Amino acid sequence: MPISTTTFFFLLLLLLLVTVTSANPSPHPFKKIYAFGDSYTDTGNTDSTTGPSTFNHVSNLPYGQTFFHHPTNRYSDGRLIIDFLTESLSLPYLPPYLNHNANTSWGINYAVAGSTAIRHAFFVKHNLTFDITPQSLQTQLTWFNKTLLEMKCKSVVLTPVECEKVFKDALVWVGEIGANDYAYTVGSTVTGETIQRRAVRSVTGFVEVLLEKGAKYLVVQGLPTTGCLTLAMYLSPETDRDDIGCVATVNNQSYNHNAVLQSNIRTLRRKYPKAIIVYADYWNAYRSVIKNAPKLGFHELYKVCCGSGGGPYNFDITAGCGSETASSCRNPSEYINWDGVHLTEAMYKEVSKMFFNGPFTYPPFKSLLRSKQNSG
Ligand SMILES: *[C@@H]1O[C@H](CO)[C@@H](O)[C@H](O)[C@H]1NC(C)=O
Ligand SMILES: *[C@@H]1O[C@H](CO)[C@@H](O)[C@H](O)[C@H]1NC(C)=O
Ligand SMILES: *[C@@H]1O[C@H](CO)[C@@H](O)[C@H](O)[C@H]1NC(C)=O
Ligand SMILES: *[C@@H]1O[C@H](CO)[C@@H](O)[C@H](O)[C@H]1NC(C)=O
Repeated sequence: MPISTTTFFFLLLLLLLVTVTSANPSPHPFKKIYAFGDSYTDTGNTDSTTGPSTFNHVSNLPYGQTFFHHPTNRYSDGRLIIDFLTESLSLPYLPPYLNHNANTSWGINYAVAGSTAIRHAFFVKHNLTFDITPQSLQTQLTWFNKTLLEMKCKSVVLTPVECEKVFKDALVWVGEIGANDYAYTVGSTVTGETIQRRAVRSVTGFVEVLLEKGAKYLVVQGLPTTGCLTLAMYLSPETDRDDIGCVATVNNQSYNHNAVLQSNIRTLRRKYPKAIIVYADYWNAYRSVIKNAPKLGFHELYKVCCGSGGGPYNFDITAGCGSETASSCRNPSEYINWDGVHLTEAMYKEVSKMFFNGPFTYPPFKSLLRSKQNSG
C-alpha cells in the first residue's frame, strides 16, 4: 500500500518528536535538593572546634583558594560534587542547614564534616570520643524532621498536600557516609565487621525513613576507595598495596561495605517501586581516575597538595593543611588529594562528570532526570 504524502510527513514529524524527547533531558527538572553526608558534601555546617584536629583549619586559606577565593568551610580548595550537582541542575549552591538566614527555597544541605553513619552513642560506649565529631546521620535526620515540621509536613498520611510540596520537585542526595566510622575505630577493639554491619544498617535505615516520608528521587553514594586517601597510605605498611598502588586492606573494606549497601538498595527498590534510587559508584569512579590519571591531567595520585613535611605524601598528621607550617602546591588541579582525607576540586569535578554523564551511576543519572521530566 503506497503511503500518502500526508501520512509520510506525519510519520516524519512523529519520528522527529520522538528524537527530540529522547535527547538529553533539560537541565531544570528539579527545583530543590536535600543533601546529607559528611565533609565530602558539607557546604558549611562544620564546626571546626570539634572533630579531628588535623583537619580543623577549614576556616583558613588555602581552603577555598581555587574557586571561591576565600574559605567557605568546604573541605577542599574549591567546589565539591554537590556544588557541581547544583550547577548541572541550574540551581544556586546549597546553603548549609545551620545558616539560619539563608534562602532555602532551592534546598538545604544537612551534611556535617566528620559525621558518622552510626549514632554517636556507639562511639561513646566504646570510649572513642577523643577527636571525633559528635554529629551523625541521626543528627541530620533530626534536623530534616524539623524542616518538615516547619513546612507543615507531619506525615504523608496526615498532611499529604504539604508533604507533596516537600518532595515533588526534590532530589534527595545521600552523600558518601561511613568512612569516618571506620577511621574513628582504627586501632580500637571495635572490628571492621562491626562497623560495616552497623554503618550499612544505619544508611539503609536512613534511606528507608526518607522513602517512607515520600522521597521519590534519590541518589545514594557508596564509599570511595578510602585506601587511596593519603592518610590511609601514610598509616599503612608499604606492603599493603593493591593493583592501583593504594592500601589493599582499606580498599577491600570499602568495596565490601559498598557491596552490602548495594544489596540493601536493591531490596529497597523492590519495596518502594514508585521511587527511583540511583547508586553512585564512588569506588569505581575513583579507581577509574587513578587508572586514567595522565590522560585526565593528574600527576600526583597519592601526595597531598596542601600539607607539610615533604616526602612521598607531604603529609604530617600534626601539621595539617591550613595550619601555620603547611602550604599549598602551585597546581592543585594536578593533584587528587587535597589535605590527606579530602580531594581537590579537580578530582571532585572529574568524579562529578563520571556520575552525571558517565557510567558510574545505576540506573544512569540521566535516566533519573528523564523520569522526573516525564512525570511532570
Ligand atoms: C529566595 O529565592 C527565591 C528564588 O530565587 C526568590 O524567589 C525569593 O524571593 C527569595 N526569598 C528571599 C526571602 O530572599
Ligand atoms: C571506658 O572507660 C571507662 C572509664 O575510663 C572504663 O571503666 C570502661 O571499662 C571503658 N569501656 C571500654 C569499652 O573500654
Ligand atoms: C524523624 O521522623 C520519623 C517519622 O517521620 C521518625 O521515624 C524518626 O525516628 C525521626 N527521626 C529523628 C532522628 O527524629
Ligand atoms: C578482601 O575481602 C574478602 C571478603 O570479601 C576477603 O575474603 C579477602 O581476604 C580480602 N582481601 C584482603 C587483601 O584484605
